[in-house]
Amino acid sequence: MSTAYSKDEIAALQEKAKRHLWLHFTRMSSYADSDVPVIVRGEGQYVYDQNGKRYLDGLAGLFVSQIGHGRTEVAEAGARQAAQLAYFPLWSYAHPQAIELAERLSAMAPGDLNRVFFTSSGSEAVESAWKLAKQYFKAIGEPGRYKVLSRSIAYHGTSLGALAITGLPGIKEPFEPLPAGGVRVPNTNFYRAPEFVANDETAFGLWAADEIERAILREGEQSVAAVFLEPLQNSGGCFPPPPGYFQRVREICDKYGVLLVSDEVICAFGRLGYYFGSERYAYQPDIITFAKGVTSGYAPLGGMLVRDALMEPFSDGHATFLHGVTFAGHPVSCAVAMANLDVFEKEDLLGNVRAHESAFRATLEKLNDLPIVGEVRGDGYFYGIELVKDKATRLTFDDDESERLLRGFLSHALFDAGLICRADDRGDPVIQLSPPLTCTQEHFDEMEQILRSVLTEAWTKI
Ligand SMILES: Cc1ncc(COP(=O)(O)O)c(C=O)c1O
Repeated sequence: MSTAYSKDEIAALQEKAKRHLWLHFTRMSSYADSDVPVIVRGEGQYVYDQNGKRYLDGLAGLFVSQIGHGRTEVAEAGARQAAQLAYFPLWSYAHPQAIELAERLSAMAPGDLNRVFFTSSGSEAVESAWKLAKQYFKAIGEPGRYKVLSRSIAYHGTSLGALAITGLPGIKEPFEPLPAGGVRVPNTNFYRAPEFVANDETAFGLWAADEIERAILREGEQSVAAVFLEPLQNSGGCFPPPPGYFQRVREICDKYGVLLVSDEVICAFGRLGYYFGSERYAYQPDIITFAKGVTSGYAPLGGMLVRDALMEPFSDGHATFLHGVTFAGHPVSCAVAMANLDVFEKEDLLGNVRAHESAFRATLEKLNDLPIVGEVRGDGYFYGIELVKDKATRLTFDDDESERLLRGFLSHALFDAGLICRADDRGDPVIQLSPPLTCTQEHFDEMEQILRSVLTEAWTKI
């Protein structure tokens, strides 16, 4: 298939993009004198731009394309469904695709997470979980519980409710005041652990978990509804949970009757080598929120998996969960999700991640010889590389340096060199990698080589 557009087509696209399209979380002014990157096609682990240039998709789009690009069988499943029943709501009605997918996800999920409430995105999934927690506690006679704890620098979405749970002050500030009740606790960034636990990861993890208990007591035990945690925190650059962390968090949640919500919008569907990140780290959530990888992006879908007990107050009489969105559990998206999960099974993608994750890590760890690389961390097919000014002291970059390094150089240089990944400074500066789950050593090597050359050049610019 030809991917190159003619010169005239490229110019026309650029003009329309600059005049009419508003990119998300993007300084539009940065495209005043340069082209908007336009991706026109994907195949396997690669995507192609309007000039036909190839890029390794080291971020799976945006932590989405688990099975890779260009899978016609998944696209065709969506087309067949659109022809048969393009749309019907889940408000009072059901359709076979939502029913079958709900059953399949329940069977895959850990423990008694047997009920699926679909949404169309991750933010909606997170917000639905908070709303369910609030209404559930009102229904069982604990109406004072509305607060939610989440970790510093964690990203849980952008709609106002989800944003109140998000722990990134910079993206919240323009929208204050946000819904009341969001409370921050420390994250599990062991590289920047407080000194008194800096040499003992287990002690650090227990301290971080115990901070959740201290926050519950500080806020008032009867006011806290839920704790929202990702299995492995994305924002900040891939913070895995220290040993024992989630087990202690589970104990704390049980002790105070607080719901544990595992926000697996990124970590589910193979990212960590399991269908759910909570399986990998052996804890039982009360709610799992998901999106992204459930369809590998062939259509949008999100949702939450809920424990049987949370549904109980809504199963009798007039009780109704007063929440819904038009496109939740869209038939095309559900059909696509089923076809996506068929690919997972047929190609044993979980097995592929588990077989190759150590090689992926080892390949990235070769970059440790560069002076700018402070730490490589993560699990599965999900890694962050923290960039530092001084390896020995772990000194980070100041705001100006970070701006020049990340926005001024790295983002463009990595893209120009043919690697899509993320240079992010919402915490300390990091590069993030989260490639399709079909990647093998040749792709790890390509990532390492491009990163090596671009990071080496970056060091000369500091
Ligand atoms: C952990 C987590 N929760 C929620 C969201 C929000 O998902 P969406 O962008 O689909 O609304 C994201 C998005 O990246 C996420 O990473």
